[in-house]
Amino acid sequence: MRYLPLDEITEDMCLARPIFNGDGRILLSNGVRLTKNYLARLKEMGYQNLYVYRAGEEINDFSIPVSDQTMREAIHGVKDAFSKAAQRQHLNTRSVNEIVNYILDEILTNPTVLYNLMDIKNHDNYYYHHCVNVGIISTLIAKEMGFSRDKMKDLTTGALLHDLGMVCVDPKILTQPRPLTDEEMAAVREHTNYGFQLLRSERDLSILVAHTAWQHHERMDGSGYPKGLVGEEIHLFGRIVAVADSYETMTSGRVYQKAMWSHEAIRQLKESAPEKYDPQVVAAMERSIASYPVGSVVVLNTHEEAVVVDVNAKKITIQFSSGPRVNALMDLEPDSEIKIEERLS
Ligand SMILES: [Fe+2]
Repeated sequence: MRYLPLDEITEDMCLARPIFNGDGRILLSNGVRLTKNYLARLKEMGYQNLYVYRAGEEINDFSIPVSDQTMREAIHGVKDAFSKAAQRQHLNTRSVNEIVNYILDEILTNPTVLYNLMDIKNHDNYYYHHCVNVGIISTLIAKEMGFSRDKMKDLTTGALLHDLGMVCVDPKILTQPRPLTDEEMAAVREHTNYGFQLLRSERDLSILVAHTAWQHHERMDGSGYPKGLVGEEIHLFGRIVAVADSYETMTSGRVYQKAMWSHEAIRQLKESAPEKYDPQVVAAMERSIASYPVGSVVVLNTHEEAVVVDVNAKKITIQFSSGPRVNALMDLEPDSEIKIEERLS
């Protein structure tokens, strides 16, 4: 299975991971042969990369932090929360709690699992996918930091709903295919205050959930917003969601901004700690996210090419795709002589 840009996908390839639409429904299932028509349509819809395999190729099993079923329900639940908030109705907190419990059940039963997939997003499903991913990454970080399940619950809820206040921002600003003006940026920044107000009015949610949404753009040196809090004035949940949100945004890209690879985003976040991000949170993030997710096409220091077929907290399993060892599998551990030098796709 490879993660390839649409232009490199040929008609002998099939979809290896399902594509979800903005409602959390499956738009295209895995196994579907990617005909020219499908590819043209997906390109039109704004998809840039897909997980694919050649027809007949065997796909190795690998574990993911959250099942496709939970992913779908979470996207659906977040969308529902956003539409309720947009109409100034109360959220369905029972359903939000249920989703949080599913996410925690799955993440806590899988001790070595990493955040190991790139997301397949387009502009339609971007927002809810983003929120769910930030929820999953924040939970993985909290697990690394030794949080109890109870404490994680509020963090995961706050992370899933961190951008809820966006429903109060003029949608015309949010869909601009260009960098925003200062005035537009100021309007967008208000989403943190709006999110706090919306979430604090939910009696069934802990006030910490509202504070997480309020503080997720604060930065350690006081350069963040809305209040310019410094260091530990920012609640730990806010510091965690700041890292998860930044990683997710950096690796997603926008029309006017190219997505970073996972290893590049991790490097950048490490370089920005301790000024912008809590170094302990960044260290836990580094242990929670795969630098080279499954499907990455890489070049090794032996000049051979390979595909990452599995990755967990202890090792990366690659399959050679060129050279004399083509198709052979190999485990790369931190002290292995063979190392990944570059990611091609
Ligand atoms: Fe935000």
